[in-house]
Amino acid sequence: IVAFFAPKHLQGKRVVITAGPTFEPIDPVRGITNLSSGKMGFALARAAANSGADVTLIAGPTALDTPWGIAREDVQTAQQMHDAALAAAAHADVFIGVAAVADWRVAQVRTSKIKKTADGAPPTLEFVENPDILATIAALPDGPYCVGFAAESDDLDANASAKRLRKNVPLLIGNLGPATFGRDDNEVALYDAQGVTRLPRADKTALANTLIEQIARRLPGGLF
Ligand code: CTP
Ligand code: CA
Repeated sequence: IVAFFAPKHLQGKRVVITAGPTFEPIDPVRGITNLSSGKMGFALARAAANSGADVTLIAGPTALDTPWGIAREDVQTAQQMHDAALAAAAHADVFIGVAAVADWRVAQVRTSKIKKTADGAPPTLEFVENPDILATIAALPDGPYCVGFAAESDDLDANASAKRLRKNVPLLIGNLGPATFGRDDNEVALYDAQGVTRLPRADKTALANTLIEQIARRLPGGLF
């Protein structure tokens, strides 16, 4: 009922969203992940669909159900998320990177479980950097309107503004990480070429609707 009456600000737009954490394997039974629950990305996918968009949700491992009417693709690693997002974003109007993408992956994933040794010496892992999905999509010629998310632990305004410029995206949504991961509410600020807009703490569902409207009004042609 709520969805039926929602304003159709994104009618007919193709929106691609990444959500959740990624999982980077170490060996067949172990890996590295992070505290992202996927709630904010899934809430945005639902809000975008309710406002008329055709939504593709590329999700890392989460415990969340697929929102109604959304095409979902599950991935594990940052590289898989990159490949899926790039393929989908090539035909998209909007890309929203909400996923907490692992910055590094293990250089040599073992094919057998790493065993403890008699001398008690721990293994050493070497890492390589993962591709930056958002920056790659933002650099596509004729690519979608790109929105980033940043969870910072401190100095939100300076870090978020610098990150927006570094990734060359028109809009970056910033929050303080420890205050959002796994929670049902969130407090964010919007960083764009005009400066910063702070939003009050709100339920992630309500916040997602506000953010979708904020994104829609920034698209070529604006709100309709
Ligand atoms: N992101 C991405 N691919 C990556 C890393 C990040 O698409 N390999 C996206 C995230 O989905 C998010 C934005 O970039 O939308 C910001 O992520 P963040 O981790 O804050 O940025 P980093 O450039 O990785 O910087 P930091 O060193 O602070 O982690
Ligand atoms: Ca990062």
